This record gives sequence, structure tokens and C-alpha cells, in this order.
Amino acid sequence: GLVNTREMFAKAIKGGYAVPAFNFNNMEQLQAIVMAAAETKSPVILQVSKGARNYANQTLLRYMAEGAVEYAKELGWAKPQIVLHLDHGDSFELCKSCVDMGFSSVMIDGSALPYDENVALTKRVVEYAHQHDVTVEGELGVLAGVEDEVASEVSHYTKPEEVVDFVTKTGVDSLAISIGTSHGAYKFTPEQCTVDPKTGRLVPPPLAFDVLAAIEKELPGFPIVLHGSSSVPQEEVETINKYGGALKAAVGIPEEELRQAAKSAVCKINIDSDSRLAMTAAIREVFATKPAEFDPRKYLGPARDNMKKLYIHKIKEVLGSDGKA
Ligand code: G3H
Ligand code: 13P
Ligand code: NA
Ligand code: ZN
Repeated sequence: GLVNTREMFAKAIKGGYAVPAFNFNNMEQLQAIVMAAAETKSPVILQVSKGARNYANQTLLRYMAEGAVEYAKELGWAKPQIVLHLDHGDSFELCKSCVDMGFSSVMIDGSALPYDENVALTKRVVEYAHQHDVTVEGELGVLAGVEDEVASEVSHYTKPEEVVDFVTKTGVDSLAISIGTSHGAYKFTPEQCTVDPKTGRLVPPPLAFDVLAAIEKELPGFPIVLHGSSSVPQEEVETINKYGGALKAAVGIPEEELRQAAKSAVCKINIDSDSRLAMTAAIREVFATKPAEFDPRKYLGPARDNMKKLYIHKIKEVLGSDGKA
């Protein structure tokens, strides 16, 4: 069946790699994730956001994820290491509902709350989840985002001096931190970037690896999580734009930085936007080049293939989790 993150993260920290956490909202994404994990024997975290639950129905998603374990075995993966995780839970009730319905891991994101309220909410979720052997991810620090309508035009990096107190008081199993990433395909404004003279592409400012190092020093061996870790592959962006899309100045986290992070105590790396781009690029290409097609399998199939290729690339070339399950 589904597993929680406890052993998975302990192994990842020792082994100097990170487990991929891929979001899914539909069957093709789930198939691509499971095919990629089975083919590479990589542990994997299936993430469901609140939005995904609303879109695809929680019961359906839960049984899809449980079915994914059986599917993985059919694909020849003897002992699938698959987690079903709630991404960015925003209330005790939502987290409880996921625990009650078979998720093996939940995130309670109280990062926008005042510190003491974040501690109290997170602690409450941990107490409930641990009774059911479900692991919990908490968050300290606020991710920036140009698409955020809220306060954080600038990100608020995690304060290393708070992490020990937070982890001790709440009992969380892993901690998401803020070191300069953000959600979505527009992680940096063009003004924040420099331009690569050879390619003309935008080069973002580096992540705050000094903050990560300070956090690791405070919490040696404790599992750290990196959200907002899509790299926004420019080939996918260019394909989308070539076939009628309008993505301007989309820029993500360079893979080299994620490779570096994966070698540290960062043992879970969250990727959603890259899969959306891979799916959209493939579908747009079919629509533009084969306008007579109207069988969804003829465009969702290529979309699935393109996502699978992306996931395998992340696993083998960036996170280093292949062969670890
Ligand atoms: O954290 C954000 C994830 O990419 C999920 O996005 O809330 O649109 O499903 P969503
Ligand atoms: P991206 O938008 O960078 O893919 O981040 C996804 C994420 O952090 C989900 O929690
Ligand atoms: Na790691
Ligand atoms: Zn996130």
C-alpha cells in the first residue's frame, strides 16, 4: 500500500538525494508519474492540492493513488514506494479529512500566520496525524511570487533561529523553507534577472544557499522541503509560444541549483508547473499540427509521453532518486 515519508526521508538524507513530489490532478499525470517512478525505481510523492481535490474529487483521487500502487507492481516495480500527500493544507479540518480518507502524509501550511498561531495549528495537525501513522510537513518562511496578490512581493526567508523551536514544539516530520523559490512559471521578474549573452535567456538570481546551510546547522539530519522547484524548461515554453501560446518571460529555478539542494538535507522537491508546461506544449503541438484530430487520446497520449519524459529527467538528472526504491 501507500507509505508515509518517515523512512523515505531518512534514506534520502543519508543518500544525498531528494524524493520528487509531483502534483497530480488527472489520470494522465498520474500515469506518467507512476510510469516514470516504476521505470527508474524512484520513491515518489503524489501530491494533491486543495485545488486538485476540488477539481477531481477527493474520493476519486484517493482510489486513483491506491490503484497507482497496484499499477506500479504491474509495471514490474516489486515494492513501490509511493506516498499520497496533501499539498498546502490550510486548516486542521482539511488535514484531518485527508488523514481519515487514507492519505499517508499531509502538509499544514501555516506559514502566513503569526509564528505562535503557526505553531499551535501545526502541533494540532501533528497530534492527530501521528495517531494514524501519517507524517506531517510544516512550513516556516513565506515564498515570494509575482502572482501573489498578498503581502509578499519580496519573499521572507525562513529564519534559521526559529527552526529548532518550531520543530520541537510542533513535532513535524519535515520542514518546508523559503530560500528564494516561489510557485508558478514566473518565479522572477525580468528586472531581477540578468540576460545570458549567448542564448538571450533570462538568468535568475541564485537561491539563498547560505540560509539553507544555516538551517541545516541548526537541525542536523532533519528533512527539509523545497517548494516552488520547477525549472520552467525553455523548450516547453518555446513550443507553447510557437503553437499559439502567450507565455512571456517565464523563468524557473536552474537545475544545477536543484542538484545542489538535493545533495543537502533537502529531501523533498516539489514540482508542478513543469508538468503543466510539458502537458500544454504537447497538446498545443497536436492541435496546431493535426487540426483534424478530435480523439482526446490523440492529444492526451502525447501529453502523457511528454510528462513521463520530464519526470524521468527530473529523477535521473536532477534529484538523483533513481534506483533508491
Ligand atoms: O502549490 C501550488 C501547487 O502547484 C498546486 O497548485 O493549487 O493550482 O493546484 P494548485
Ligand atoms: P512549482 O510551481 O515550482 O512547480 O512548485 C510546486 C509546488 O511547490 C507545489 O507545492
Ligand atoms: Na537530500
Ligand atoms: Zn508548494
